[in-house]
Amino acid sequence: MQQEASQCAEMIKKANAIALLSGAGMSTNAGIPDFRGPQGLYKRAGIPDPERIFDIEYFYRDPSLFYSFHRELLKALDAAKPTFAHFFFAALEKKGKLLGIVTQNIDALHQRAGSRKVYEIHGGIWESHCTKCGKAFDYETSKRMTFEEEIPRCDNCGGVIKPDIVFFGEPVKHIDECFDLARKADFFFVVGSSLVVTPAAMIPSATSGEIVVVNKGEVSEFYLPSSRVALRVDADIDEFFRSVNEELKLL
Ligand code: OAD
Ligand code: ZN
Repeated sequence: MQQEASQCAEMIKKANAIALLSGAGMSTNAGIPDFRGPQGLYKRAGIPDPERIFDIEYFYRDPSLFYSFHRELLKALDAAKPTFAHFFFAALEKKGKLLGIVTQNIDALHQRAGSRKVYEIHGGIWESHCTKCGKAFDYETSKRMTFEEEIPRCDNCGGVIKPDIVFFGEPVKHIDECFDLARKADFFFVVGSSLVVTPAAMIPSATSGEIVVVNKGEVSEFYLPSSRVALRVDADIDEFFRSVNEELKLL
């Protein structure tokens, strides 16, 4: 890993326009489970076809499945703090080296670490809306209702409330800006993602720069332009970026 870290540090020194696509693996060290890792939500859910937890059609039929998992996520979020790697990418932006981040995560840990240009392609939980009348609910209100009721309902019309997370079957957010960022990047990081969910998994293919993938475990190569992958690091994200930082002394 040390040699890979040195190589990565050299690439960062030369780069001027870095971009990052991050996934759930970025936050497991903060105590938030990923989806497809060995301890992932989909593995532990113990139900057939676990992706239906975030399927919009299924949500309309039975919102209680999503909410039973959402309560656990909210508890984990309360205790979570940004990890070393989150701070590392925030420091790269402050140094003027990083253009922006596309994150599939809804935990806001990039922003809490100080990153400013963050596209939450799968939305977030900071606002919720009634699926019937569209009334907006802020984070604190929707969170309170999530713990008080099995299925939070709108006080205006009785409709089911849904956080602004992008479910399967819904359009992702900021897609043009995400591809634009990838095109402008001269160095593209993929960190903590299995790259199986589209269109997020297609974004790295838009960059003309070199790609570095840091992920423990399998990464789908279906959309990844393998000729541009300069480095594939199969290691713990925070351990790896600590090693990279040993050479760069950003933090
Ligand atoms: P996944 O759970 O599919 O992939 C996370 C990857 O991170 C796995 O390959 C893990 O092995 C790896 N990993 C976990 N912890 C790590 C660590 N400390 N160091 C290195 N690697 C680690 O998560 P995503 O690719 O983000 O969508 O999943 C994409 C989307 O699928 C999510 O945004 C979510 C989900 O359905 C929605 O909810 C809409
Ligand atoms: Zn309503």
